[in-house]
Amino acid sequence: MIENNPFSLNEKTVLVTGASSGIGKAIAQECAKMGAKLIITARNEERLKDTLQSLVGNGHQYIIADFSSDDGINDLVKSLPILDGMVHCAGLIKRLPLKFVNESHLTEIMQTNFFAPALITQKIYKAKKIQQEGSVVFISSVATGFASFGNIMYMASKGAINSLSKGIAFELATQKIRVNCIEPGMIVTNLTKAISDEELAEDVKRYPLGRFGKPEEIGYAAVYLLSNASKWITGSVIKIDGGLTLR
Ligand SMILES: NC(=O)c1ccc[n+]([C@@H]2O[C@H](COP(=O)([O-])OP(=O)(O)OC[C@H]3O[C@@H](n4cnc5c(N)ncnc54)[C@H](OP(=O)(O)O)[C@@H]3O)[C@@H](O)[C@H]2O)c1
Repeated sequence: MIENNPFSLNEKTVLVTGASSGIGKAIAQECAKMGAKLIITARNEERLKDTLQSLVGNGHQYIIADFSSDDGINDLVKSLPILDGMVHCAGLIKRLPLKFVNESHLTEIMQTNFFAPALITQKIYKAKKIQQEGSVVFISSVATGFASFGNIMYMASKGAINSLSKGIAFELATQKIRVNCIEPGMIVTNLTKAISDEELAEDVKRYPLGRFGKPEEIGYAAVYLLSNASKWITGSVIKIDGGLTLR
């Protein structure tokens, strides 16, 4: 065991949203392995309990919350203790070509992918539930700069997250609260069920490292950004995409 390991999350309490499946679940698992106390949240209680049971260590808890309503967001923030870090991972995708996009589609995707993480961060900060020197991590996507047909709404929601992250990083730097984004490439999860097998088979050929990512590979980056090892990193966007965006 390394003493004073800068990557350790011992003594840190971390909120992970979207922890009932996929990337959020893996982030919670990796944070727990590094010693964090987790507060995990999502809508589906059964899947959240599965995540909870898979976490090493003690003192973790789950809170059911639906980000499609203000009440869901407010109730979550009220139930939270003081945090050292948070990872905003809850998200959804909806693919429609421009001519079929309407306001209610846009509202649905922006609510979970943008308004919820923005408002949760703001409310936690206002309620003084984030420690000085805390760390905020947003899960964005390489889709911010990499177009695919019918992906307009998702791309826009994640682009908004990147800008939000930089803006908050600037404002909260006086408190030494750090704010960063991770942009994953393709990771096969429930979310990617919106993409056909044929499309996935074509897509994987674009990855210089020859495969899609694994959820835990995003978890490792989240651990880094939550830990003291990244104390001088704020306002950054870290791409984890097997080289997809090299060309
Ligand atoms: N998979 C990829 O290739 C990829 C690539 C780049 C970025 N991302 C991003 O990574 C994040 C996680 O995606 P994933 O691939 O792990 O997808 P996933 O397995 O579908 O997980 C999405 C999570 O979000 C939660 N969620 C969705 N709507 C919610 C709502 N209204 N209120 C509260 N929680 C809600 C879901 O939980 P419940 O259903 O239990 O509520 C689930 O835990 C997303 O932000 C996504 O945009 C994914």
